[in-house]
Amino acid sequence: MTTALIFDRASKAFQAPDGTQRWALRPTSFTISSGETVAIVGRSGSGKSTLLHLAAGIEAATGGHIDVLGQDLTRLGDRDRARLRRDGIGIVFQFFHLVPHLSVEENVLLPAMIAGDLRQYRPRAVELLDRVELGDRAKDAVDHLSGGEMQRVAICRALLRRPALVLADEPTGNLDDATGRLVMDLMTSMVREEGCTLVYVTHSTELAGAADRTLHLRSGELATA
Ligand SMILES: Nc1ncnc2c1ncn2[C@@H]1O[C@H](COP(=O)(O)OP(=O)(O)O)[C@@H](O)[C@H]1O
Ligand SMILES: [Mg+2]
Repeated sequence: MTTALIFDRASKAFQAPDGTQRWALRPTSFTISSGETVAIVGRSGSGKSTLLHLAAGIEAATGGHIDVLGQDLTRLGDRDRARLRRDGIGIVFQFFHLVPHLSVEENVLLPAMIAGDLRQYRPRAVELLDRVELGDRAKDAVDHLSGGEMQRVAICRALLRRPALVLADEPTGNLDDATGRLVMDLMTSMVREEGCTLVYVTHSTELAGAADRTLHLRSGELATA
C-alpha cells in the first residue's frame, strides 16, 4: 500500500443555534503516503481536531470521501469502521486517556484486551515499555506517573498492535516544553522504526519541525503556504 490517508473534499459542518450551517472543516483534499510523518498546525478553532476525528472515524464527514488504509471510511458500516479503527489506527490524546486504576502494563495492553489477543502481545508490551524507559514501572499504577511518563505509556498503547496509522491530537499540549520535545522525539522515532504513518496536531511550529511535511489549517481550510 502506498497511501495511508486520502481526504477528497472531506468536510464537517455543524448546525449553529440560529439554524445556519457552520464549517468546522471546509471541503478539504490531501493525500498522505504510507510511512510519512505529517504535522497539522493552526490556531485554536481552525479545525485540527475535527480533521483528526474524521480520519479516525470518530466523527462522520458531512461531505466528500475519506480513504484510510485503502478503505473508504465514508462507505463503511459501523462494524467495519470499528474494525478498521481497532486494527489499523492508534490514537494518542492530549490528556493521555489512561485508565487510572490499571497498571502501566495493563494500560499498554488495553487494545489487546479489547481485541481478545492479550497473550500474543505481552512480550510486545514489555519491549515497548523498555523502549520508552518505563520497563521498571510496568507494575506501577499509572496514577503515580508524571505527565511525560503518562504520555509515553499512551504512545506504547497506541503502537501495541502495530497500527499502520497513528493519529495524535496535541500529544504534547499538556506537557512543559522540554518534556514535550522529548515525548515528540520519542514518538516520531518510534513510528519511523515501526514504519507506520503518523499524523499529529500541534500548535508549536518548532514541534511541527519533527515532521516530513506540515499542513496548515486556517479557519477550517488548508492554507497553501
Ligand atoms: N460538536 C461541535 N458542535 C459545534 N461546533 C463544533 C463542534 N466541534 C467543533 N466545532 C467547531 O468547529 C471549529 C473547529 O473545531 P476544532 O476542530 O476542535 O478546532 P481545533 O482543534 O483546531 O482547536 C470550532 O469553531 C469549533 O467550535
Ligand atoms: Mg483541537
